[in-house]
Amino acid sequence: MSTNDEEMVVTPWEVSGKIDYEKLIKEFGTQPITPELLERLRKNAGELHPQLERRIFFSHRDLDWLLQKYENGEKFVLYTGRGPSGPVHIGHLVPWMFSKYLQDKFDAKLYFQITDDERFLYHDNFSMDETAKWAYENALDLIALGFDPKKTRIILDTKSIGTLYSIALSIAKHVTFSTAKAVFGFQESTNIGLLFYPAIQAAPAFLESALVGHNVPCLIPAAIDQDPYWRITRDVAPKLGYYKPAQIHCRFVPGLGRGGKMSASLPETAIFTTDQPNVAQKKIMSAFTGGRATVEEQKRLGANPDVCSVYAYDYFLFMNAKEIEELRYNCLSGNIMCGDCKHILAERVKKFLIEHQERREKAKDRFEEFLFNPKDF
Ligand code: TYM
Repeated sequence: MSTNDEEMVVTPWEVSGKIDYEKLIKEFGTQPITPELLERLRKNAGELHPQLERRIFFSHRDLDWLLQKYENGEKFVLYTGRGPSGPVHIGHLVPWMFSKYLQDKFDAKLYFQITDDERFLYHDNFSMDETAKWAYENALDLIALGFDPKKTRIILDTKSIGTLYSIALSIAKHVTFSTAKAVFGFQESTNIGLLFYPAIQAAPAFLESALVGHNVPCLIPAAIDQDPYWRITRDVAPKLGYYKPAQIHCRFVPGLGRGGKMSASLPETAIFTTDQPNVAQKKIMSAFTGGRATVEEQKRLGANPDVCSVYAYDYFLFMNAKEIEELRYNCLSGNIMCGDCKHILAERVKKFLIEHQERREKAKDRFEEFLFNPKDF
């Protein structure tokens, strides 16, 4: 799947080109989050998360259905996850922070899948020791976000497979090779582990229902790259007598370079949660912005926040509504220079990293507490 700069590719393994989110809604057959749906969320949650207000979460499947169930007294579970192939970057935190908001507001249980199997199978040079190391390291980031240990269970695939396997098998039986090939782009050279893997990622969507013995609605918050998995999950659900899982999709936090999502494979343009604060600062100071060639021109013509990675970080994670409005105005009107803007962001990111890293340290003894244990049921 080779791409030029502009051609949009969004799959679970590759996100590149200029992302057109409206087009994705059409191509993937999802629904936009309408103002009515936002109001309904606000009513049920008490308040809207800024990621909803700012349309960072922009698309869904069956969220209206899920809220209807909730309004009728049926609680739902949340399901999200991580493929442990390296350190977590702050883009990954977007769906996780949002899941925390949903857990708090809807008193929902969260299943968090860590797909050490997927990453072992996908990366040619990865050993199981490496995926095990990253699984643990990445789990610390999740725990550091403050999830409720009583309502959060980490499913580590190679450890929890005994529970997942029979659900995955029943899913796999209903997905043909030709469907999997069409949805995931599998080829003759794809290893057979990866061919089965989608059934493993689908399984947690039905886990609560399977464990408690009756249907429980499930909502999956994630960026839209994971959507292909949910297409097969949703196709199979009625054949197995389960509810189709609902989804809520977010946009991608961009990298600090020109265009493209934040990606661990481009470390100089990604801020990792484990970066030393001064390292993160250096990355921000070299970030791509929407600035003009000279200070004089920028003062006269203003800059362009819509292509600026620094503005994007403020927008996704680091500024409140009033601050972002002011920044936008000052940027467009040439009242602020890119260097100053970078400094403001760098200070905020450094503060975040110091606090997150402290919480991450404290999470080190708590992995087992969060790990899924079939005896809980
Ligand atoms: P992974 O590890 O690639 O990504 C973890 C989560 O982060 C989201 N994400 C982003 N969100 C915003 N901006 C970005 N730049 C960005 N990059 C990645 C992903 O959409 C994902 O939600 N196969 C999965 C692991 C998994 C999973 C799940 C994810 C298993 N079950 C259920 C979501 C929901 C993976 O490798 O994610």
